Amino acid sequence: MQTLTNKTALITGASKGIGLGIAEAMVKNGMNVIITGRNQDSLNQACNSLDGISAGKCLAEVADVRSITDMQRVAQSGIAKFNAIDIVIANAGVGHFASIEDLTSEQWSDMIDINLTGVFNTIKPCIESLKQTKGYFITVASLAGTNFFAKGSAYNASKFGLVGFTQAVMMDLRKYGIKTTTLMPGSVATYFNNNTPSEKDAWKIQPQDLGQMVIDLLKLDPRTLPSKVEIRPSFPPAK
Ligand SMILES: NC(=O)c1ccc[n+]([C@@H]2O[C@H](COP(=O)([O-])OP(=O)(O)OC[C@H]3O[C@@H](n4cnc5c(N)ncnc54)[C@H](OP(=O)(O)O)[C@@H]3O)[C@@H](O)[C@H]2O)c1
Repeated sequence: MQTLTNKTALITGASKGIGLGIAEAMVKNGMNVIITGRNQDSLNQACNSLDGISAGKCLAEVADVRSITDMQRVAQSGIAKFNAIDIVIANAGVGHFASIEDLTSEQWSDMIDINLTGVFNTIKPCIESLKQTKGYFITVASLAGTNFFAKGSAYNASKFGLVGFTQAVMMDLRKYGIKTTTLMPGSVATYFNNNTPSEKDAWKIQPQDLGQMVIDLLKLDPRTLPSKVEIRPSFPPAK
């Protein structure tokens, strides 16, 4: 996919954080974006800022990735507005961190339903369009999808599951000319886990760095597929 102008990407969880960083990079490269999240006001704010980069490139849809019906509606609206979906970025995710002794079943369900089932719900309604466009499917997993840690049981389970899911989907879809990549970032300066990005997060990966990485992946020659990409801060603080 060497020409990106007017290609269309669906990005879940793009009202802020990594999803918005990827959306900004795409709009700067002439692409259309369909952004989702659960809050209309924050989605409108994100779409307004994207319109400030290039007008008319953004469609905002309130949708919960836990709902396959919501995600079917998003895919239909996106195709109706922009004709096709060329790229799907399954990014929406949450984190609750607690020892298994304290983790609640609501927290467990939240992470499995959003971080894992939400990705299934995101890709399913887009497969036909990706086949037609020989498109690209990217999931945002985490280094927590390969490194386990105390208080991470549910988050680790969701992200280890997501890495396995994405790699298997890559094997299923490769024959149609669809590329699939799992991004596995370490610490990123976002609102994740009740953080408010500030100066203290300057050492972390920034959302625009992941935006740049997605653009580079999309532009890579079709013959080559980085199927799993681990991304770390170069200079983490000493522990
Ligand atoms: N930040 C990190 O250090 C880091 C590291 C590795 C991986 N990740 C992964 O990166 C992804 C993005 O996280 P982030 O760091 O950008 O966090 P963030 O700043 O909190 O953004 C999360 C986005 O997802 C949306 N979202 C949450 N639940 C949703 C749902 N059920 N349906 C639709 N949208 C939903 C949020 O909007 P609403 O709440 O308004 O719906 C928001 O737009 C997650 O999958 C996370 O696990 C983050």
